[in-house]
Amino acid sequence: KRKIIVAIDGPAASGKSTTARKVSGMLGYTYIDTGAMFRCVTLKAAREGLLEKVHREPVVIEPLLSSLTIEFDRDRVFLDGSDVTDAIRDNGVSREVSFISSLKPVRDRLKEMQRRMGDERGVVMDGRDIGTVVFPDAELKIFLVADPAERARRRYAELESKHGAEGLPSPDELEQEIIQRDRDDRGRTHAPLRKHEDAVELDTSALSIEEQVDMVYRLAMERI
Ligand code: C5P
Repeated sequence: KRKIIVAIDGPAASGKSTTARKVSGMLGYTYIDTGAMFRCVTLKAAREGLLEKVHREPVVIEPLLSSLTIEFDRDRVFLDGSDVTDAIRDNGVSREVSFISSLKPVRDRLKEMQRRMGDERGVVMDGRDIGTVVFPDAELKIFLVADPAERARRRYAELESKHGAEGLPSPDELEQEIIQRDRDDRGRTHAPLRKHEDAVELDTSALSIEEQVDMVYRLAMERI
C-alpha cells in the first residue's frame, strides 16, 4: 500500500487537531501539529525574554532558531528536550504566536523541519499553510472551517474540561481572540492562511467529531 500525506488547514479552533489526531490513528500514520511548533518558537522567545524586543527588531529571533529542536512523542511535545505540552497552550503564547509566525526566518526554519518530518510520507499534518506551502503535493488537502461562535464555544469547553471555569476568558472574549488571530493569519505576507484550490472544504459547524473524522478518513482511503 502506498503512503500519502494528508494536509489539514483552517482557522483557529476549527477542529483540525482533533480530526488529524484521530485520522492519523486510524491510518497508522504519524500526526504532526505544526501549530505546536510555532507555539514552541514563541515560548522559547518568551523564556529568553525576547518577546518585546522581537517586535521592534525581528532579527533577534534568528540565533534562537539555529539551536531549536522540536520533537513529538505520542501526545507530548518537547522543546529542546523538555516537555512543553501544557506551557505552549498558555494564553500568553496564544496572543503572541501569530506575530512570531509572521516572521520569514521562523517560517523557513519550521518548513524545513516539517518537510523532513514528512519525507517518508505517511503523515497527517495540520496547520495553516500545509497544503499551500509545505506540501503542495499532498495527496489529500482538507480545509476545515466553522462558525466563529461555535469555535469559541468548543475552545471554551476544551479549556474548562482541562482547567475548570475559574480564571477562564469568557466565550465572547475567546471569540474575539479567535477572530483576531484569523485576521492576522490571513493577512500576513508570508504563507497566509488560505484554501488551496484543490483542497476539500468541510464546514464542521454542524458536524460531530465522529462525522468529520469519518469524512476525512474516507477521502484518505480513496487516495491510498
Ligand atoms: O493551530 P494553532 O492554533 O495551535 O496555531 C497557532 C498559530 O500558529 C496560528 O494562529 C498561526 O499564527 C500559526 N501557525 C502558522 N502556520 C501553521 C500552523 C500554525 O502560522 N502551519
